Amino acid sequence: MNETLERWSSRRAFILAVTGAAVGLGNIWRFPYMTGENGGSTFLLLYIAFVLLLGLPVMMAEILIGRAGRRSPMQSLGHLARAAGASPHWRWLGVFGVITVFFILSFYSVVSGWSIEYLVESINGNFAGGTPQAIGANFNDFLADPLRMTFNHTLFMLLTMSVVAAGISGGLEKLNNLLMPLLYLLLIVLAVYATTTHGFGTAMAWLFTPDASAITLSVVLNAMGHAFFTLAVGACALMAYGAYMPDHQSLPRAVAAVAVLDVLVALLSGIAIFSVVFSQGMDPGEGPGLMFVTLPIAFAELPGGSLWLAIFFLLLLLATWTSSINLAEPMVATLQGAGLKRGRSAALVGVAVWAVGLLSVLSFSTMADVHWIGEMNFFDLVTTVPTDFFLPVGGLLIAIFAAWVMSAEAAERALDAGPGGFRTWRALVRYVSIPLVVVVLLSGLF
Ligand code: PHE
Repeated sequence: MNETLERWSSRRAFILAVTGAAVGLGNIWRFPYMTGENGGSTFLLLYIAFVLLLGLPVMMAEILIGRAGRRSPMQSLGHLARAAGASPHWRWLGVFGVITVFFILSFYSVVSGWSIEYLVESINGNFAGGTPQAIGANFNDFLADPLRMTFNHTLFMLLTMSVVAAGISGGLEKLNNLLMPLLYLLLIVLAVYATTTHGFGTAMAWLFTPDASAITLSVVLNAMGHAFFTLAVGACALMAYGAYMPDHQSLPRAVAAVAVLDVLVALLSGIAIFSVVFSQGMDPGEGPGLMFVTLPIAFAELPGGSLWLAIFFLLLLLATWTSSINLAEPMVATLQGAGLKRGRSAALVGVAVWAVGLLSVLSFSTMADVHWIGEMNFFDLVTTVPTDFFLPVGGLLIAIFAAWVMSAEAAERALDAGPGGFRTWRALVRYVSIPLVVVVLLSGLF
């Protein structure tokens, strides 16, 4: 065990940190537009099923590897593999995780930059009384302005990397302690407000009335990718946090708390967003612009709309900040594991991710016609492939490693749920989660 590694100061701090990683753009930006594009309730139900059958067990697998290894993901995997007499090449799974978070963070920072822009614009009252046409045009103008987008993207990377450079207990704990409770408070206020809009009933019916006929392969694939994304599972990012987990804390209990908090945020923001969407007779399948176009339109007509909007974007920004810190952690921990100082590792990671993020910025203007796979521009590519493909593949390998490869004693100790809890978890991973990912991935490929 690496005694020099820091620890979260308490069980609560660990749960807050993992919740901070899980709750972010996935819940507030991606969940609504994916739900909108994939037929509402069907997507929602599949997503919840995947969270229960895949997300939770694999999340435990991922964190327990980090906790048992107490090193950077790459080193933990290599060390545990060697200890169990398996191939040390398992450490390359840590590198796959680093590649995954690298691309995710590159667009994550760009979209978080959009919320900085929208926060400032709503404080300035730019949307007050605006017509739908003017507000829609405003979003398109912004996307077409690479300089403004780069400015916000740069600001967000600086915000993220400065906390990462300060180390987990110095930077992140203080931030989480302050921000997470505030976030829930703001979301509850917004959802309560949504019940007063006349689209509330339609939104509830659309979100919660099941319709089995709407299940298609692409809806299933999207829901699986989203379950991994929203829980931050499959990229070894939570593995990096597991390394700092305190002793004597039951992992299943911690993870269950995180999943409830995570799904709650998605549901609350879904209810808030679709209530305004339906109140205004808008299209739920608008795509990645859904939140940025529909909410300003909706709120523009309401008394105090600019204030509500500013609160919403502030909330989103806080949530994305704690997630992006988690996305950066495996990269920084890996460089640190290779002997670099923490501050320098953070700077290197920040600059590299920022540079690739510029490609996402430009794919709305200069590079709009540069296509990679089929019709996808760079932004479409990085928002799709790492989430729907890399995360499930990473999650699958993580599950195989924890349930079949590493030593059962070490896994049982790191799960900290007693022998019965361990056997139940392992059976679930071996016979439900692993086959389920394989089946869905293979049917997606063929
Ligand atoms: N879970 C985060 C969100 O919902 C995104 C994320 C994915 C974070 C993978 C870490 C690892 O916004």
